[in-house]
Amino acid sequence: MSHSPIAGIILAAGKGTRMKSENPKGLHAACGVPMAGLIGRALKEAGVERPIVVVGHRGDLLQEALGESFDFAWQHTQEGTGHAARMAAPLLKSCTGEVLITPGDTPLLQGSTLQALVEAHRASGASCTVATVVMHDATGYGRVIRGQDGAVEKIVEHKDASESERQVREINTGIFCFDVRLLLEVLPELSNKNKQSEYYLTDTVELINRKGGKVEAFVFSDPDEAMGVNDRWQLAEAEKALRRRILKRHALNGVSIIDPDTTYIGADVSIGIDTVIEPMTSLQGNTVVGAHCTIGPSSRVVNSTIGDSCTVLMSHLSGATMLEGSRCGPYANLRPGSVLGEKAKVGNFVEIKNASLGAGAAVSHLSYIGDGAVGERTNIGAGTIFCNYDGFGKHRTEIGDGVFVGSNSTLVAPVSIEDGAMIAAGSVVTSDVPENALAIGRGRQENKLEWAAQWRKKKQQ
Ligand code: UD1
Ligand code: CA
Repeated sequence: MSHSPIAGIILAAGKGTRMKSENPKGLHAACGVPMAGLIGRALKEAGVERPIVVVGHRGDLLQEALGESFDFAWQHTQEGTGHAARMAAPLLKSCTGEVLITPGDTPLLQGSTLQALVEAHRASGASCTVATVVMHDATGYGRVIRGQDGAVEKIVEHKDASESERQVREINTGIFCFDVRLLLEVLPELSNKNKQSEYYLTDTVELINRKGGKVEAFVFSDPDEAMGVNDRWQLAEAEKALRRRILKRHALNGVSIIDPDTTYIGADVSIGIDTVIEPMTSLQGNTVVGAHCTIGPSSRVVNSTIGDSCTVLMSHLSGATMLEGSRCGPYANLRPGSVLGEKAKVGNFVEIKNASLGAGAAVSHLSYIGDGAVGERTNIGAGTIFCNYDGFGKHRTEIGDGVFVGSNSTLVAPVSIEDGAMIAAGSVVTSDVPENALAIGRGRQENKLEWAAQWRKKKQQ
């Protein structure tokens, strides 16, 4: 997409009282991204290079979450949307062209819709275009008052509206496209002589009209895009709609989503074709899944990278990497720094942390592999534990290629087991094992012939 650059402002200084939260409203996330960040993305898609975010209540948190690609303006006292826009004005000084203004709490707003708004604005030659929605029940919203010719005369807030104005069902979404010069001219002229004693951004409409500018309305075809989130239930509803949009995008891109009602995919996850996402599965953060994989059922994958043709069955992955053809589960726990090599296999009740498995290595049952490396084709028997912690520090276990570790072995780190070695089942390995050696670290078995029979006989007398 290429658009001529345009400025953008997100008004996110409000407290969001009904969220009943210590965090600012714009920080609350839908599908893993703060609402203000989702709107920021939509603005960027519409051609805004660096959206300006007006922050106030706990603005430091929002600033930290949104990061470097945004500019910030502070509104220390919340004196209305017009006052908030005025706080951003100094950052618009060098702008010509247009500016988009959006609220900070409409997470379903899409870049393509903003782009259509800008195009309509440019086509009509208006000085201001307000995005509107027609509602059955418009209670609480600002009403759009149009003249005979359809042009917008003014916007009246519900609290300030007359009985006849309240009959109007076309409402202000709070999303605007302005000619920057004219906006900067009228912002200082706003007054707060109204029911809420606030400086209303909506009053710019009348001021622009008075200066001979034209104000148009752009009616959103999908009212959901302007859906404002005021409390956590509305946030849950918005997240649900956003989630379905994300699932549909993946489905149309060649990913099988077996059950959209129980599948949760974050906004930033990418998935290759012919991958199947089974029910009750959640893919989060910057997770990347390759093609031809099966993920789930009942799996949670966070910030992990999964190659092509992998299988994740009823498992948890966080900060893990799986290379092509590897598999894990059921009930595997791959913690940060886990790396499964090509075709490596991790079975049930296996926990891996900060450790790598070479190509074709297998840890099939009931093991803890922490802080170490396992070579290619090495087999780790059931119940093997890497004793990585001595109560003070963590130590590594290094295992070479083609090693066979017998079941129920305890490998006390730091320790290294060289290529081709074997560890007898049940060993406690405390010193290094040379190449191709057999290590036996347990009491030698002794068979006392007939002992059991004699003991029973004695007891039965
Ligand atoms: C606003 C509009 C109303 C519209 C409605 C749509 C005005 C005067 N009214 O009303 O016409 O129908 O949105 O949802 O614009 N904000 C600040 N600083 C402030 C006040 C608000 O940054 O001092 C931010 C809020 O964080 C929020 C946005 O501006 O993201 C809208 O503010 P809000 O108080 O929700 O406006 P409404 O009364 O709902
Ligand atoms: Ca609102």
